[in-house]
Amino acid sequence: MSIQTRNKKLNDWVKEVADLCTPDNVVLCDGSQAEYDRMIKIAVDGSLATPLNPTKRPGCYLFRSDPSDVARVENRTYIASKTKEAAGPTNNWIDPDELKGIMKGLYKGCMKGRIMYIIPFSMGPIGSNIAKIGVEITDSPYVVINMHIMTRVGKKVIDVLGEDGEFIPCIHSVGKPLAKGESDNGMWPCAPIDKKYISHFPETREIWSYGSGYGGNALLGKKCLALRIASVVARDEGWLAEHMLILKITNTKGVVKYVAAAFPSACGKTNLAMLIPTVPGWKVETIGDDIAWMKYGDDGRLYAINPESGFFGVAPGTSDDSNLSAMKSIESNSIFTNVALTEDKDVWWEGIGYDPPGELVDWTGKDWVYDKGNKEQKPASHPNARFTAPASQCPVIAPEWEDPRGVPISAILFGGRRPHTIPLVHQAKNWNHGVFIGSIVGSEITAAALDLKAGTVRRDPFAMLPFCGYHMGDYFRHWINIAKKTTEDKLPKIFFVNWFRKAEDGKWLWPGYGENSRVLKWVFERCEGTGKAIETAIGWMPTVDAIDRPASVTKEDMKELLLLDKEGWMTELADVRENHYSKFGDKLPKELADLLTSVENDLKK
Ligand code: GTP
Ligand code: SPV
Ligand code: MN
Repeated sequence: MSIQTRNKKLNDWVKEVADLCTPDNVVLCDGSQAEYDRMIKIAVDGSLATPLNPTKRPGCYLFRSDPSDVARVENRTYIASKTKEAAGPTNNWIDPDELKGIMKGLYKGCMKGRIMYIIPFSMGPIGSNIAKIGVEITDSPYVVINMHIMTRVGKKVIDVLGEDGEFIPCIHSVGKPLAKGESDNGMWPCAPIDKKYISHFPETREIWSYGSGYGGNALLGKKCLALRIASVVARDEGWLAEHMLILKITNTKGVVKYVAAAFPSACGKTNLAMLIPTVPGWKVETIGDDIAWMKYGDDGRLYAINPESGFFGVAPGTSDDSNLSAMKSIESNSIFTNVALTEDKDVWWEGIGYDPPGELVDWTGKDWVYDKGNKEQKPASHPNARFTAPASQCPVIAPEWEDPRGVPISAILFGGRRPHTIPLVHQAKNWNHGVFIGSIVGSEITAAALDLKAGTVRRDPFAMLPFCGYHMGDYFRHWINIAKKTTEDKLPKIFFVNWFRKAEDGKWLWPGYGENSRVLKWVFERCEGTGKAIETAIGWMPTVDAIDRPASVTKEDMKELLLLDKEGWMTELADVRENHYSKFGDKLPKELADLLTSVENDLKK
């Protein structure tokens, strides 16, 4: 079983994988609407998808995953470089030959009773010199559907590949072969947790995924290619592949700046990327909501592109109030996974902004009646339930979002969920100090990863802990080195933000969402050389009057949000020294070790 394209390497690889996985048939995807509709029909006929109300949500479908397959699985994700040292202390490692042996055993016959789809896709606009081509082999129609939205799929990609074009081969199987006559019978297919593998081979630039059908485990263009493999390519070629949103901000005078921001999973990238400013006359538009590839332009500035073409966004908490543009993006032609279903076949989730309009079917397929006031009630929608929507449907998508030249970045923000210590915003003193700030990011764990306990703080440097394809110490070094290609004045200014401070009673100190535009305004002004600030041990901090206070925030709360908590920072940095930087040994750049000491000393003054 095979396919016939002009690209021999592709044809041979497909034949090899087909011989191993023994599907019933092999289909080359063309990216057409007809193909999308066919995949939907297969999913609906197999009771794996429910069509939503065509009047309320035209072209939308709901999928429910297996309860064991609801998020990325970090402890089953591997960086199988030749040496353990190359993967570093923060990645799981298995010898690549050993891992391939294990996985070939699993792949053997794993597509029996299924169709093998070959998805040629481009990350970035097709044909642009910044784009990368991948080909995903999968046995999941759900993956084909989502890849159609999230990446650029189809014939054009095959044309660009030509006879000898390079592509990154990605193999995916749900890991559930079917016996003769057997069907999924409405059950989301996947393999048990100890059979799941999300594997990356950085030297040979290959991705092998087995056993999960969900999100980043299965849509291999996203975290696997555009971050884990791309971060290795970026290190070798001198650019940056980052877990960052990209936004465009325009002030009242029509001056435009572009901002990139790295927050860990489920910490607010999609929301910030689509924010509707509460600052009168200012405008924010979206370039991307999850991944940025940044390269130098001829002018010595960093230019960013969004390699994706859709949003795979967290549903819970998304409402007309918190993110109207996301709500508009998902009005039609969208896929919902693990949200609740209403009686009239619409979607519902916790934080959608209104009570359930009646009885629901929850994300596990069971009837669910709202027990108002009962805080113990299990949520109707899984906390990591997601929507998949075409970026082109976003009402605030910037007209230049597909410009292959990318957009010049003026500011980079780092952030995370930190109830204490970290102020609302502060600015790094220079690039290396910004790298220091990025390297010490910590955040409360969220539901975006299956195997971790939500709520506890962990270090997530550059929001890349689960996504860096090589030694994190070398990654820090790469960030320091990349600045040497240009001058400090051309580099983005670096900031640390925290929308998640809590008062003693557990309430948010900062309203977040649209009100974050007040902080963006200060960031914008700092890039222009204005914006009132004082220099402190941790960097530049806004004066109390530098940021307009939202109506809901008291003067005292604002003071608290902008206070330098010296004691808290000393504890923070002691933790960085003992439990974080200590991991990297001699791979920790000396610049960062020195900065840690000097910030500590400044705090003692
Ligand atoms: P990934 O797609 O996993 O990378 O997540 P993300 O970083 O794009 O996070 P997203 O914007 O989807 O937000 C995740 C959750 O955080 C949602 O439930 C949001 O409602 C909530 N959130 C986002 N921004 C804010 C904010 O400014 N304040 C508060 N309190 N919550 C926020
Ligand atoms: C994340 O976890 O950061 C996501 C969702 O954006 S997934 O695509 O599953 O990685
Ligand atoms: Mn993400």
